[in-house]
Amino acid sequence: MVHATSFLLVLSLAMVAPVLSTKKLTPALCVLAGNWTNDLGSNMTINPMDSKCNFDGTYLTAVAESKNKIKKSPLRGSQNCTDKTQPVFGFTVNWSFSDSITVFTGQCFVDKGKEVLKTMWLLRSHQNSIKDYWNATKVGTNVFTRQSPQKE
Ligand code: BTN
Repeated sequence: MVHATSFLLVLSLAMVAPVLSTKKLTPALCVLAGNWTNDLGSNMTINPMDSKCNFDGTYLTAVAESKNKIKKSPLRGSQNCTDKTQPVFGFTVNWSFSDSITVFTGQCFVDKGKEVLKTMWLLRSHQNSIKDYWNATKVGTNVFTRQSPQKE
């Protein structure tokens, strides 16, 4: 009886162990390329990075400081390729409909199995006089999640 129990114990361990070790060994992979939406409803597309870890893309903001009609704007950035699993990155959006620039910096995390970009940004708007420079910069945070694939 004792032998049978030990045998069953060893057998079940042998069956469960590979599953556990595979889970542990699989690294969380967060990839920047793709379509993302943030907590304000802005949409961004990041193209696959090149061999030097640089990328470009487009940004369609849902909100604006400028009164002009919002247009899709270009972005350029880099990721630090030291750790490709949950990389740190930065990018600049050069707004095509206003005279301002936003720089974002952040990290791509896998949180509960889902990719998320946790970012901070500085929005610098043009001033006509140096006397107004103190009023030129806004700071904030955005959280981006990957858009679900569109059905055709
Ligand atoms: C402008 O109004 O001059 C440009 C648009 C700025 C939009 C900002 S950038 C930071 C924040 N996150 C967004 O998705 N949109 C706003």
